Amino acid sequence: MSNEQQVRIYNPSEEMVKNAAVSGMDGYRALCKEAEDDYEGFWGRRAKELIDWKVPFTQVLDESNAPFFKWFADGKLNVSYNCLDRNVNNGLGDKVALIFEGDNGDVTRVTYKDLLARVSKFANALRGMGVKKGDRVVIYLPMSIEGVVAMQACARIGATHSIVFGGFSAHALRDRIEDAGAVALITSDGQHRGGKALPLKPIADEALSLGGCDTIKNVVVVKRTGGDCNMVAGRDVWFHEACASQSETCEPEWVEAEHPLFILYTSGSTGKPKGVQHSSGGYLLQAVLSMKYTFDIKPNDVFWCTADIGWVTGHTYITYGPLACGATEIVFEGVPTYPDAGRFWKMIQDHKVSIFYTAPTAIRSLIKAADNNPAVHPTKYDLSSLRLLGSVGEPINPAAWEWYYQNVGGSRCPIVDTFWQTETGAHMITPMPGATPMVPGSCTLPFPGIQAAVVDETGTEVPWGQGGILVVKKPWPSMIRTIWGDPDRFVKSYYPADFQGKLYLAGDGAIRDVETGYFTITGRIDDVLNVSGHRMGTMEIESALVAHEKVAEAAVVGRPDDVTGEAIVAFVVLKGPRPTGEEAAKTIKELQNWVGHEIGPIAKPKDIRFGENLPKTRSGKIMRRLLRQLAKGEDVTQDTSTLENPHILEQLKG
Ligand code: PRX
Repeated sequence: MSNEQQVRIYNPSEEMVKNAAVSGMDGYRALCKEAEDDYEGFWGRRAKELIDWKVPFTQVLDESNAPFFKWFADGKLNVSYNCLDRNVNNGLGDKVALIFEGDNGDVTRVTYKDLLARVSKFANALRGMGVKKGDRVVIYLPMSIEGVVAMQACARIGATHSIVFGGFSAHALRDRIEDAGAVALITSDGQHRGGKALPLKPIADEALSLGGCDTIKNVVVVKRTGGDCNMVAGRDVWFHEACASQSETCEPEWVEAEHPLFILYTSGSTGKPKGVQHSSGGYLLQAVLSMKYTFDIKPNDVFWCTADIGWVTGHTYITYGPLACGATEIVFEGVPTYPDAGRFWKMIQDHKVSIFYTAPTAIRSLIKAADNNPAVHPTKYDLSSLRLLGSVGEPINPAAWEWYYQNVGGSRCPIVDTFWQTETGAHMITPMPGATPMVPGSCTLPFPGIQAAVVDETGTEVPWGQGGILVVKKPWPSMIRTIWGDPDRFVKSYYPADFQGKLYLAGDGAIRDVETGYFTITGRIDDVLNVSGHRMGTMEIESALVAHEKVAEAAVVGRPDDVTGEAIVAFVVLKGPRPTGEEAAKTIKELQNWVGHEIGPIAKPKDIRFGENLPKTRSGKIMRRLLRQLAKGEDVTQDTSTLENPHILEQLKG
């Protein structure tokens, strides 16, 4: 490796190499070569083998309307059928599909047969409400069996779901309902997290009262926390009542491979989140293939992805990928720190988890917790069931990687550091656990069939060892199809004219190792922050801040944070005088809560600083690079001679 300090290389064990789906680097290279020699054949063969089609496809890739690529377009399938009926038909009806563990530790096991019955009942209930193929259904639910059931039920009847993470505010929920033109909302009375019962339905009610949600005809409410719950007559119905009299069988709606399975909103570089639209056939193919290649899923595995279904990771690696493989998986309602920070390790021990997939931010916070309290150190638990670990959502720093490898994986489990995005649908750059020698901090090499590269501003590949822009050279089956309702933004965001519309722009910077060609992601190159593995657009937060009556102007940047990866820092100019002392502290709280209310608690700035103005060039442009230096507490090295108002730098130092 080229880095100054000696980096360690970790080779997969012989046993892993022998048994893994992708066996050894020769196996990996053979797959890559197969894709290089016959790209469509590579994907087409796997689509035939891994998916049950109602109507087989005759064409693999249709590039005639690039970059609106189509995969397997004349084939028909149903994603829920592939996840449920297929397994039951193959004799897995009594196999446990979901092990649900509640915040309070209660465990519910749901077999494939049972899950199929629950999904069919709810699918029938939705049909009974008039929800049909192509309708959008917004799901605003905590981690629950019903969350998975609701998603699968939509898939079963061809309705396109849009999950809104339970931590988003009423405004964020309203915006997403309105943008999608959803006909139904599925929510719950509340959720249990960290020993507390938190209400959810009141937030949903507020969202619906804000205007713009007239398309919603039905609201289905899961009873989770109990107690009082406002139910609007003629609109709201309890989930259990809606399902009670329904049949346990439901004929799936056979949809075209390109039919939109879901929309998932994610942050971009403008104030408005993007509704990333995914397909059915191509998406399912890569969900399954990555379960096989990256996670090496085997019949006896117990798989646990700790993500929330509100994020893409929860879609691909909870609701769809594991179930389509007939796997047993954990669904967890709670938080990693309740009742103590040993919760993850205890659950791995109790449920004999063999594959564990989590985010660097969780690992870093659990390292801190274990340092402070040896009783919750992972080595205090029996984690011998583990055979494979994964990381996702942000770069994992080598120190956290090593700790995870040694203390959680007992220095015997490979770590797959999986780089991908809401838009890519599935893993793009990741080690193969029985093949790729691992280097902490690097997501290593592209998934077989994925043609990733690092280029300069003109789209020309840069030499290894030189940083640049991460792109994907060829379309892939699980890629984003468009931005819901805004095809122009799709083209501009992902297939920009700078690259002649030929390269997919990921929005990340990357560098390849001089010797191995391994990829290391160097972070976003747009105005998107990554806080605890969650994407936040700086413009979204700025728009929320300036919507406050006291705020005249705001600029938001990120600064590195030990636990959350990046932390949000806001520089704010008030309409009135610049506050100091107690007045400043009070206003900071007020603005933090405001952003929490406008977007959600995850978007609250950690640090807010007030100035009489923002640093601007004489042409009025905010000098963001300078703000980033101030946010980090660094000395300003940038030339400030063009600065209109140099004296405010002192005020903004924080
Ligand atoms: O910046 C990259 C980072 O997360 C972004 C995608 O965020 P999102 O769409 O919310 O999806 C997160 C879960 C797939 C990317 O553009 N990212 C994700 N995984 C990694 C990563 N950065 C470095 N290494 C990773 N393994």
